[in-house]
Amino acid sequence: MKHQIVPTTIILFGATGDLSQRKLFPSLYHLYIYNKLPSNFCIVGTSRKDLTDHDFRQMIKESISKKSFDFTHLDEFLTHLYYSQQDVLSEESYIKLNQKVNDLESKYDIPQNRIFYLALAPKLFNDVTDFLDSSGLTTVKGYKRLIVEKPFGDSLNSAIQLNNEISTTFKEDEIFRIDHYLGKDMIQNIEVIRFANSIFEPLWNNHYISNIQITAAESIGVLDRASYYDQSGALKDMFQNHLLQIVALLAMEPPISLSSEDIRNEKVKALKSIKLPTKQQVLSDYIRGQYDSGNISDESVKSYREEDGISDSSNTDTFIAAKIMIDNFRWAGVPFYIRTGKRMKEKSTRIVIEFKEVPLNLYYQSEEKLDSNLLIINVQPEERIEFTLNAKHYSEGMSTKPVKLHYDLVQDQEYHPFDAYESLLYDCLLGDSTNFTHFDELIASWNLVDCIHDVWQQHKPSFPNYRAGSQGPRQSELLLSKDGFSWWENN
Ligand code: BG6
Repeated sequence: MKHQIVPTTIILFGATGDLSQRKLFPSLYHLYIYNKLPSNFCIVGTSRKDLTDHDFRQMIKESISKKSFDFTHLDEFLTHLYYSQQDVLSEESYIKLNQKVNDLESKYDIPQNRIFYLALAPKLFNDVTDFLDSSGLTTVKGYKRLIVEKPFGDSLNSAIQLNNEISTTFKEDEIFRIDHYLGKDMIQNIEVIRFANSIFEPLWNNHYISNIQITAAESIGVLDRASYYDQSGALKDMFQNHLLQIVALLAMEPPISLSSEDIRNEKVKALKSIKLPTKQQVLSDYIRGQYDSGNISDESVKSYREEDGISDSSNTDTFIAAKIMIDNFRWAGVPFYIRTGKRMKEKSTRIVIEFKEVPLNLYYQSEEKLDSNLLIINVQPEERIEFTLNAKHYSEGMSTKPVKLHYDLVQDQEYHPFDAYESLLYDCLLGDSTNFTHFDELIASWNLVDCIHDVWQQHKPSFPNYRAGSQGPRQSELLLSKDGFSWWENN
């Protein structure tokens, strides 16, 4: 299906909140600069605050000024912004909002195409969608779309319940569940590297790949999100969504087309093929951690249990390392090692595909093995693709040395810094749900996460177990070394 941008109204709930200020408005502004918003559009922000359109525009101007690099079109962009004070639990304010949206649609000649973005606490999603329906806001002549932030549920059952609730107002193809990792350029690149190069796909299986490593390390701690994070932990905050989505993209079969449906079907199959671990396997292959105090970039930082809003006996995981096995013909026997954590040495998200050794090594040097061929997809902070080969050591007979071929996005002439939200908002305007999470993917990922969580609940961890500024607990190293591998660190 060909996707098209048409005149649209974006209605943003939680418009004065952190996400809107830091990410959504700067991204919308950048889309405006690059001519990627519809010719006729308006944005209506809502929140509890009592603001006029003018106050709201001033507030957004300040947030955009902190994030942007080109202010030439800012005042013009701001004229498209409006504000409506909203009590999300009162039908009256939705009726008022509907009136305002109708008036603006007449003014801008927008045929009732509406995007509702809920940058709100997930516990409100159900009430808000009910009120959108009962107030008439979703009774439109054009299209209606709903964007929701994660977390979508906190277990399989709660995700199903939430989905049943919002599905009374929005159909699956109208729901855009954000996983911002899917908007990152290098994550989107996984598919391109795999399916646009004839050299990789034939090798992309258990005959040639020995293991795959995915790391999403963060140096930040829990920041001011204690009440959310302490309930969620690394397992539900990062692993259930971002990391399993990366696994799905790496493991899926080639889709028959690039349509969102064909890609999603393959991703769902890959997620369903992940072997559900037994209780013993959870204990041995899913390592959890919590940070102690330590040093990061010469600054001393507190332990998790000393953070504001966190109890001194909290057993929440701030780190997880896992060995995932995928039970299908392509991947049987190839471990996918995954780790993510807060307060690690540095911010670094990278994927390393390690290829098997050549069948006969002609270049053995005093029992040394050849270096592995590695394909490295560096997602952030540097966006880079690297491939390591063994080449002849310059002038030293026939000995070998690993050499790197690389492509750095920043050196690309067309490169400009691009936020994941820009790409996802643009996709939603187009009506393209490829880079959003389908409910079937959620079912498969929550199924695995529930299984891990249940076992963890029955066994009290011994926390804290890693120093801030390290690469996580020692067990995370052992997870690989017992299989004869080790984490490929950044160098
Ligand atoms: C969010 C998590 O989804 O992703 C945060 O809730 C985490 O805890 C963030 O810090 C990481 O995103 P990024 O884009 O900085 O890697």
